[in-house]
Amino acid sequence: MLFVLGALFRSERKSSTDGLWNRFIEVVFKLGKYLCFPQHPQQKRAKNSLEFLVDSLLFPLQKDCKILFQAGEIDEVRVTVVALTSALHNFRKILAVEMFTQKRERCHIIRNDFFTTGRVKILFLIGFIFLQSSCAFFLSYIKDKKPSPNETTEASHANEFMWEQFHLGNYDSLPSILDKLNSSYQLDPNNADVTAHLGYMYLWAFAERIRNKPQERILENVFLSNRFFKEAIVLNPDDPRTYGFQSAVQMCEGAFTNNLEMLAQAYFGSLKAIRKWPQFNKFALGYIEGQLDTGTRMYKQGLKFQWEILDECAEAKLSEEKIMKDPITILTALYDEINNSNDPEIKRACGNSWIAPHNWEGFFLNFGDILVKAGRIDQAKIMYSAVKIAPSYVDWIYKDVINLRIEEANQNVQVFNRKQNLIALTDNKQMMVNSEMSCTGCHKMSSGEFAKASYKSGSEISSAAEKK
Ligand code: HEC
Repeated sequence: MLFVLGALFRSERKSSTDGLWNRFIEVVFKLGKYLCFPQHPQQKRAKNSLEFLVDSLLFPLQKDCKILFQAGEIDEVRVTVVALTSALHNFRKILAVEMFTQKRERCHIIRNDFFTTGRVKILFLIGFIFLQSSCAFFLSYIKDKKPSPNETTEASHANEFMWEQFHLGNYDSLPSILDKLNSSYQLDPNNADVTAHLGYMYLWAFAERIRNKPQERILENVFLSNRFFKEAIVLNPDDPRTYGFQSAVQMCEGAFTNNLEMLAQAYFGSLKAIRKWPQFNKFALGYIEGQLDTGTRMYKQGLKFQWEILDECAEAKLSEEKIMKDPITILTALYDEINNSNDPEIKRACGNSWIAPHNWEGFFLNFGDILVKAGRIDQAKIMYSAVKIAPSYVDWIYKDVINLRIEEANQNVQVFNRKQNLIALTDNKQMMVNSEMSCTGCHKMSSGEFAKASYKSGSEISSAAEKK
């Protein structure tokens, strides 16, 4: 109220000639502002903006841009400019959001006082509102997108159907999975699980595209996946997995559409996601980076991440050097340690679970592939063998792939390094990431496993992932 009064009087100030009166009004205004806008949220916003700036401008330019831009054929200067522009763009966005939020708050205060003040003041206020923030006044009635408190029956059926088909690895069911998810999205576009699952399922359609012959419209899946992941983050900002997946998908979109700014932004987004849940999101970024040429900085970073994931899945320090001294003994101990871990971030990202029943096997298959691509055959064979440490290996639908990979390791160096069109892949000889195992390698259950596993609902499985 003080603020409103101060503001009202201040707007009259120009006509007054009394300097003391002006000073007094200024003090009332400041006091009102202080009381109406408690310092805490403002300071917090300012701090967030600063952190965001440092994140998107200084940090990437000093460190990550170098990694990204020494990566390949891209001209370093051009990319630095793009990164700078995108950082400035972000900054402008922050300012716009801040101004909007502040105006909205102001409107809110004014609105609350609207009916308690006299007629003259009401007229004054209307004028004030229209002059100061006519649009913001109306915008203040628009509610932010908020997650639905309850799940519709359609949503729970669609989610259950999705899990069933995904765990069975029924890629051909994708059209009906997407139909069900999309129609429950139409009924309730604020369901966080349905929205995220649309992101995951469009990505599955793209990632295992090798199962079908090349399709003209395959890229649409990448665009849609990115779109739904972005919305899923708004609906559930506490799930660090969606940040990692969204950024990874957006990197693909940026690369395929030749949009360097989008690619750069997504790369920084991946780094942020890694800070939220390193064990999980280092895999997401590393999986994408493993597709690049071995000479690039990003490929090398992807390889480095695999070692770091192992280290971060262990309580004690676990370096490459230490692992290589006695790999199978050390990795067997690590497998047991992960299974007995009380830390959900480790247990869920590093071990096998209902969600990802062959996560261990998939991780080491991909690690082996990345090492083969780098020509590090001996290490690759060790990682391929480490797949067998998990007792679930015997139930893994792709278990025969491992012996074949070990046998063909030498010739695969050339196969994994050949240049190809990533949208329309050349043939079936692909690294895991571009193969029919791209997602099902970790997520598919054997029929025996599926018979034993019962369905888990969204709230049952998301709580631990949201811990951070
Ligand atoms: C190396 C193994 C691995 C690969 C490959 C992999 N994932 Fe996952 N995925 C995981 C793990 C681990 C989790 C997290 C488990 C948890 O949260 O407890 C997960 C989580 C998920 C979820 C769960 C979301 C939810 O609602 O809880 C979905 C859906 C999913 N992945 C889809 C995919 C798709 C699509 C691909 C292919 C592009 C893929 N995954 C590739 C291991 C993998």
